[in-house]
Amino acid sequence: KRERKRPVRVYMDGCFDLMHYGHANALRQAKMLGDQLVVGVVSDEEIVANKGPPVLSMEERLTLVSGLKWVDEVIPNAPYEITEEFMNTLFNKYSIDYIIHGDDPCLLPDGTDAYALAKKVGRYKQIKRTEGVSSTDIVGRILLTFKQKDAVAVDEVGVKPTDELKSQLSHFLPTSRRIMQFSNGQILRSARQLGDFLLVGIHDDQSIRDRRGYRPIMHLHERTLSVLACRYVDEVIIGAPWEVSKDMITTFNISLVVHGTVTEGNSAGEIDPYAVPKSMGIFKTVTSPKSITSVSVATRIVDNHEAY
Ligand code: CTP
Repeated sequence: KRERKRPVRVYMDGCFDLMHYGHANALRQAKMLGDQLVVGVVSDEEIVANKGPPVLSMEERLTLVSGLKWVDEVIPNAPYEITEEFMNTLFNKYSIDYIIHGDDPCLLPDGTDAYALAKKVGRYKQIKRTEGVSSTDIVGRILLTFKQKDAVAVDEVGVKPTDELKSQLSHFLPTSRRIMQFSNGQILRSARQLGDFLLVGIHDDQSIRDRRGYRPIMHLHERTLSVLACRYVDEVIIGAPWEVSKDMITTFNISLVVHGTVTEGNSAGEIDPYAVPKSMGIFKTVTSPKSITSVSVATRIVDNHEAY
């Protein structure tokens, strides 16, 4: 009788700070190199020691990673370097077959390769790094948007996180607050639990700009990739209209429209985008499980600006 083959288990580690579609694409490719993907999320201390402080905490980064559809298991507080000891733990305790990383060099402070040992024993595989996005780049986009808008006191050297700036931030960020809700996946999980199929409508850049006066930090296609990477999402409408219309409800066979409690709040005079589903009795507000918003994240970025 033929033995059932043991599943191939692969390991990918990383900081996964400000989770973006580059990370999602890396995990997707890693998963394709095996049957089960185990993800090591590097501890705050190790990130501080190797590349400077992360914006998001261990717990927040863990939540984000766990919400991605390619991730089977997570190991919290993973080390930055694949040491001999940790490599043996991966092989023996976690039955890992291969250790995976993007094709960008990952160096320790002393200039040596963090994956040297795994490469030496032939248990290393590589995936293609996604161009055009990184955690550093996202921090840059946020800071740049402040500068361009010229609404806040930003100088070339650094940003002073005054109370005034923080209140400006709360006006600025509602568009990207949406991204955080999506990328943290928690609200999407709550929504998915209310039905069997979760369809997510993603607004296009222009309608966000028209409504809020600011460009979103992530473009429509970037936001779409992030939402699609979430394990609770079944389908997306790319460039969904601002208002949920009767026609849309019929076309997509929608039985419930859900919105979170952490929201940008309608500006005066604006039409309620959910008027139709409300009148039909198919609208529900769900409590956003996390208090984290893009405002709080951006405030952290501004607070720590000198560190980046
Ligand atoms: N990664 C990728 N494409 C990107 C960014 C990251 O493929 N645009 C991969 C990395 O190669 C790594 C994994 O995602 O295998 C986790 O990356 P992380 O430790 O977060 O590192 P960085 O490369 O520093 O990513 P970022 O600059 O966005 O923080």
